[in-house]
Amino acid sequence: MRAMRRSLRIAAVLGSARAFVAPASRRSATRLMASASGAPEDETRGGTASLADQVARARTRVRKGLRARVERDGSVLRGESNLALRCGERSPRRRARGTTRESILLPRVAARGLTYNPASQFAQAQKDDNRRYLDIASIFDGSSLKGKRVAITGGSRGLGLEIAKAAMDVGAEVLVICRSGTVDGAKIYDGVDVTDAEACASAAKKIVSDGGPVDVLINNAGYFYGPCEKVTENSLNFEEELKQIDICAVGPLRVSNALYQAGGLVEGSKIAIVTSQAGSCEWRFTQNKDEGGDYGHHMSRAACNIGGVLLAEELKSKGVCVVLLHPGFNRTEMTKKYESIWDIEGAVPPAEGALRVLHEVIRASLDKTGAFVNCEDGLRIPW
Ligand SMILES: NC(=O)c1ccc[n+]([C@@H]2O[C@H](COP(=O)([O-])OP(=O)(O)OC[C@H]3O[C@@H](n4cnc5c(N)ncnc54)[C@H](OP(=O)(O)O)[C@@H]3O)[C@@H](O)[C@H]2O)c1
Repeated sequence: MRAMRRSLRIAAVLGSARAFVAPASRRSATRLMASASGAPEDETRGGTASLADQVARARTRVRKGLRARVERDGSVLRGESNLALRCGERSPRRRARGTTRESILLPRVAARGLTYNPASQFAQAQKDDNRRYLDIASIFDGSSLKGKRVAITGGSRGLGLEIAKAAMDVGAEVLVICRSGTVDGAKIYDGVDVTDAEACASAAKKIVSDGGPVDVLINNAGYFYGPCEKVTENSLNFEEELKQIDICAVGPLRVSNALYQAGGLVEGSKIAIVTSQAGSCEWRFTQNKDEGGDYGHHMSRAACNIGGVLLAEELKSKGVCVVLLHPGFNRTEMTKKYESIWDIEGAVPPAEGALRVLHEVIRASLDKTGAFVNCEDGLRIPW
C-alpha cells in the first residue's frame, strides 16, 4: 500500500501518465520496441465549443452510454478507448462489490469535461502496437527540418542538448541559446538566462543579424525545485515558487517576445514550448489526488500553458504557430531524483524524448496553434 502511494505521488510529481496505473508487467515493457502498425494521428480542434457546451455534450454521451468518445474544445480525442478502459477497470474491492470505476468515475469526469484519461496510454499503445508511442525512431522523419534554422533554449544539456543533436542530424542549422556550454556543430548564444530580458533581447538581435529569422524556436529551458512542497509539512518555498514561474512560465514568453521584436519570428515560423503535463489542472485531480504538493513547479507549468495559448492567439494572424509540448518522462538531471523509478516508470533516454519533441514540432501548424500535446502519443492533454 505504501509503495502504491509512493508511486502515485511520484506520478503526480512527474506528471507521468503511466506511472501510477500500469501494472508492473506493463511497466517493465515500457521500453519494448513494437513493430507493426502506423502512428496515430491527433485530431485538430476545429471548433470553439464553450465549456458549458462540452459538459452538456459529455453528459449526453454518458447518458447514452457512449463512453467511447468524449469531446473537449470542440475536438474529439483518441483517448476514448483509454477512458473506457480506465473507467472500466475493476479494483479488487469493486470487483467484490460488482461495481466498476466506470460507474463511480464517469459522471464526475463528465461533469468536469475531462477529455481522456492518461492512465492507460501505455497499455493501449501496446495493445494497438502503436509504433509512434513505443518506437519513435522507427517512424521519425526529420527531413523537413533540413536547412531550417532551429533555435533552442537550454540546448547545452539534458533534453535540449539531445533536441539540438537530433535536429543537426537531420540537417538543421541549430542555434543554442544557453547560460553556458558548447555543442559541437551548433552556433552558441551564451550568457542568456531566460529570466533576463536584456540578455534575451541581445541574443535575439544577434541571431537575426547572423542569419535572419528562425524557422523554429524551441523554448526548452526549465527548472524543477528539488524538495516536494507541502502545506501540511510547512515546506512551501515561496522564493522557489516564483523562480520556477519566472523560468518556466515567463521565460518562454521573454525569449519569444525578444525574438519576435528582433524580427526573428515571421510568417511560417513555429514556436514550441516544452512544458509539462504537470500544468494540466484536470490531471491534478487524478495524479495529485489526495496529495497535492509541488506547488511551484505545477503552478509554473499551468502559467506557462496560459502564456502559450495567449501567444498562439496573438501570433496566429502573423502566421506564427505555437504548440505546448509535454516531452514525456526523460532520464535527465531534472528527474535524477527519481532515478530509482526510471526503469519502473519507463523513463526514456533524452535522445528518444528529443525525437518525440521534434516529431510534434514538425507536425505543428497554424490550424493546431495553441494545442497542448503529449509527445509520447501525440494526443491532446486536457488543460
Ligand atoms: N525530463 C523530464 O522528464 C521532463 C518532463 C516534463 C517536462 N520537462 C521539461 O523539459 C525541459 C528540459 O528538461 P530537462 O529534463 O532537460 O531538464 P534539465 O536536465 O534540468 O535541463 C534544464 C535545462 O534548462 C536550462 N535552464 C534552467 N534554468 C535556466 C535559466 N534560468 N535560464 C536559461 N536556461 C536555464 C538548463 O541550463 P543550465 O545548464 O544553464 O542550467 C538546462 O539546459 C524543461 O523545460 C522541463 O521542465 C522535462
